[in-house]
Amino acid sequence: MVAVALSLSSTIIAGSDCPGAHINMTMEAACREATTAGKPLPMYKLCKRMLVQRTPAGSFHEASEYASIAAEEVWLLYSFVMYYMRSALVNSSIPGEANAAYELCIHDYQEADATMDRTRRKLDRVLKGLSECCGLNLSNEYRAALHSVGACRDRLAKLSNSPLLDNNEDIYNRTMVAYMLGKLIGIM
Ligand SMILES: *[C@@H]1O[C@H](CO)[C@@H](O)[C@H](O)[C@H]1NC(C)=O
Ligand SMILES: *[C@@H]1O[C@H](CO)[C@@H](O)[C@H](O)[C@H]1NC(C)=O
Ligand SMILES: *[C@@H]1O[C@H](CO)[C@@H](O)[C@H](O)[C@H]1NC(C)=O
Ligand SMILES: *[C@@H]1O[C@H](CO)[C@@H](O)[C@H](O)[C@H]1NC(C)=O
Repeated sequence: MVAVALSLSSTIIAGSDCPGAHINMTMEAACREATTAGKPLPMYKLCKRMLVQRTPAGSFHEASEYASIAAEEVWLLYSFVMYYMRSALVNSSIPGEANAAYELCIHDYQEADATMDRTRRKLDRVLKGLSECCGLNLSNEYRAALHSVGACRDRLAKLSNSPLLDNNEDIYNRTMVAYMLGKLIGIM
């Protein structure tokens, strides 16, 4: 009885959780809606670059698919960055200052990785129709990922010349776009 009552009440809360998830639209429209309203044009272009391979221009998809693709893409990028930094540390081809920054950055990315892994799984369930809700409070997850990636970017920015800085800023921007696409489907 208790379980039934609980699941009923969570269904009621969840019902309005992700109101835009199943709206069909093109990726251009999704990117336009997600990134306009005062956001810089580069974000719109980056959004389209993130989506165009899996959802070609002009084709219609549910909005949750765009959010899902973007979350998965940034999650994969986090692994690449961690891999790159770990091998740079092992190769010890970098100065001590960068060494310390990389170690802290790996920790930042581990946190972002765990956060975005939860997020992409929740979005995938919404996309597959296994869940009507986004898992609640995904905004916090995106913000936590942004915070972690931003922390690493700031560490690298203090180094005199880090080959990874541009890369990290790009990943920060992509995480921001993923968040905007999450907001488009109405995550809270
Ligand atoms: C979106 O498109 C799919 C497939 O064409 C369709 O089954 C679905 O009902 C559409 N959803 C909305 C909200 O129009
Ligand atoms: C580390 O060394 C290996 C083997 O020499 C090389 O393949 C790899 O690219 C290097 N990684 C970095 C980040 O320099
Ligand atoms: C989301 O979680 C935070 C704490 O993590 C809480 O303060 C906030 O009220 C929650 N928002 C919703 C919509 O559940
Ligand atoms: C990240 O986004 C900001 C704001 O749009 C832009 O100025 C910057 O050039 C972007 N960085 C990269 C590496 O794309």
